[in-house]
Amino acid sequence: MRLIKILIYLLVFQSSAQQGGMWIPSLLQGMNEQEMNQLGSKLTAQDIYDVNNSSLKDAIAHFGGGCTSEVISPKGLLLTNHHCGYGEIQSHSTVENDYLQDGFWAKNLKEELPNEDLYVDFIVRIVEVTNSVLQGLTNTMTEQQKQALITKNSNAIEKAAPIEPWQNTKIKSFYKGNQYFLFVTERFEDVRLVGAPPSSIGKFGSDTDNWMFPRHTGDFSLFRIYADKNNRPAKYSKDNVPYRPKHFLPISLDGVAENDFTLVFGFPGRTNEYLPAVAIDQTVHTINPAAIGIRETSLAIVDKFMRSDQDIKIKYASKFASIANYWKKWIGENQGIEKSGAIAARKELEVRFTNLVKQKNLKAYSHLLPEFDRLYAEIKEVSLARTYWSEIGYRNNELLRACLFAYQLVNTYHSRGKEAFEKRLPSTLNRLDRIYKNYSAKVDMPVFEALVEKYISEVPSSYVPASYKNLNLSKTTKEVYASSAFTALEKMRALFEGSPKEIVDRISSDKGYLFAKDLHQMYYETINPAFQKTNLEIAGVQKTYMKALMELFPNERFFPDANSTLRVTYGQVKGYAPRDAVYYKAVSYLDGVMEKYKPGDYEFDVPQKLRDLYVAKDFGPYADINGKVPVCFLGTNHTTGGNSGSPAIDAHGNLIGLNFDRVWEGTMSDMNYDPEICRNIMVDARYILFIIDKYAGAKHLIDEMKLVHPKK
Ligand code: ARG
Ligand code: GLU
Repeated sequence: MRLIKILIYLLVFQSSAQQGGMWIPSLLQGMNEQEMNQLGSKLTAQDIYDVNNSSLKDAIAHFGGGCTSEVISPKGLLLTNHHCGYGEIQSHSTVENDYLQDGFWAKNLKEELPNEDLYVDFIVRIVEVTNSVLQGLTNTMTEQQKQALITKNSNAIEKAAPIEPWQNTKIKSFYKGNQYFLFVTERFEDVRLVGAPPSSIGKFGSDTDNWMFPRHTGDFSLFRIYADKNNRPAKYSKDNVPYRPKHFLPISLDGVAENDFTLVFGFPGRTNEYLPAVAIDQTVHTINPAAIGIRETSLAIVDKFMRSDQDIKIKYASKFASIANYWKKWIGENQGIEKSGAIAARKELEVRFTNLVKQKNLKAYSHLLPEFDRLYAEIKEVSLARTYWSEIGYRNNELLRACLFAYQLVNTYHSRGKEAFEKRLPSTLNRLDRIYKNYSAKVDMPVFEALVEKYISEVPSSYVPASYKNLNLSKTTKEVYASSAFTALEKMRALFEGSPKEIVDRISSDKGYLFAKDLHQMYYETINPAFQKTNLEIAGVQKTYMKALMELFPNERFFPDANSTLRVTYGQVKGYAPRDAVYYKAVSYLDGVMEKYKPGDYEFDVPQKLRDLYVAKDFGPYADINGKVPVCFLGTNHTTGGNSGSPAIDAHGNLIGLNFDRVWEGTMSDMNYDPEICRNIMVDARYILFIIDKYAGAKHLIDEMKLVHPKK
């Protein structure tokens, strides 16, 4: 009897350890540590996070506020994804030295390239501050009043926290505002580019393979952190020296096998795991289809131009990739929610919730689900309008985006005067310049016409500007693109000459600006206020609902939604079955790169040198026991955007891979993690080493790393 009990316990435990979760590194003791050990880890909670001694967390850095990176040598060598370093690699590239196309490898410290706007943040310590943040809150306050007090308290706590002069503090909300943590951080601002493979390796497979497995992308790049002579953060200086980290990750040469323990340590951006069914339904059936449809329209137009014009292809490659990235993600997310029956499952949970609330007579919770129904019905139309505005007025059309920046600047002039205008001007010009650096009015114009047409015909009428109704759009489009200055860099720049008043007057008589202004005004004066009002109420209900779930289901594991703070997620190396009778094995090999090879193709070309190494089987110590070079592998780690560049760590704390993507069928994990089908995709560390050593000949970089054999 007892044995059966233990067996059942183990079974439940094993499977629960596969249920995903993004955990706070300072709170791993107990349940997480046990689960990790069940999965094969030899690490203690303290090996991962420790305030008094160095630990794994000291090797992990938030990269430019978006991606993750990790230190892999005692000299501050930093590893992240190629797509995370893309902007920096691009910014050092010229027609003669195209590092995106050919790759870049600094031969010594002197050749490493500084990056003006790049920084990385380390976490020094994490402290719970819930009681102080919520001090003074009462039930009679409105959501607005509560939020204001929370902000006030947080600012005071951030200021009062004892820190060193070079450190910063930031408070973040967890469990929908039921818990708060203070983060003490250190920011290094001298981070230099060290190496990057050519895009034909670092971006191999491009958009066709994006979000897919089998995958064969060597999505990595190398940077180095520099510090001042005292090893402290400092602005760029030629006198700075390589940073000596508190910890760096050794790299395992022994590779991975199915079921090996994996831990991914990084900065996941945003998830929504505790939504009511009505919210998932709205995302899947209202918001996602609108956004997908808009992007489909614009991508189809841009794609046509890119295919017939080499110059446009280069200019639009990066924009196209970023629009296509979430277009494809949302399609996968919708299919996954549908296929896994996530909405029905969430409804079942809500039935159980309602029954428990009744049984226990918990009056404070009985209104929650009906409130969600009411509020999501209330927000539906305005939320849809907001999606159309952000996709059309901001993301997909550049004339409208340029005019948005101009609109914000003009408003600054009208509401806050000349000085505020002058203060804002340089950053506005900066953003505008970036738009026109890779711009073609020929491409932008048909996108404008098609998207504005969609806005007018698909957005609820009360959110369509009056001037857009009964419009001859094709005539207006021609007029706008014929006369507006927001169609070329020099013309746009000429608008901004002279005094603030002259600039404002000139902008305000531009035909393109006048058209865009009506749309942006509709957003700022009508759509956004209405959206925020209801959204704040939803946040209030969601906070109580989160608390109620945790109280009513005390045996379930609840992890806080991602919020761009440092998290640990763990699992195992595992393949998956995407559909009936198909099984994807966990590891892909260099053989697969050669299978996909299409000479001259912009997604699937393979550099000559790599083909030569393959034919000669010149793999050094980086092949597996069967003589094959692994390229990517899959795991059951629960990741999301922001986990790009996160290290995959083995049972002993060594680097085994570099996270860069998820599989398409599992992208719904942002709302509904399903251990059957959700997988993250990592580049195998041995492929990274192979490319650095054998392909790039950058042996000096390998020499500063610590390569280990934990399995021997
Ligand atoms: N899907 C990955 C992530 O969300 C990789 C994106 C790289 N971009 C691309 N279009 N291939 O960000
Ligand atoms: N590629 C994503 C990023 O840029 C990570 C993949 C994901 O969303 O899981 O962060």
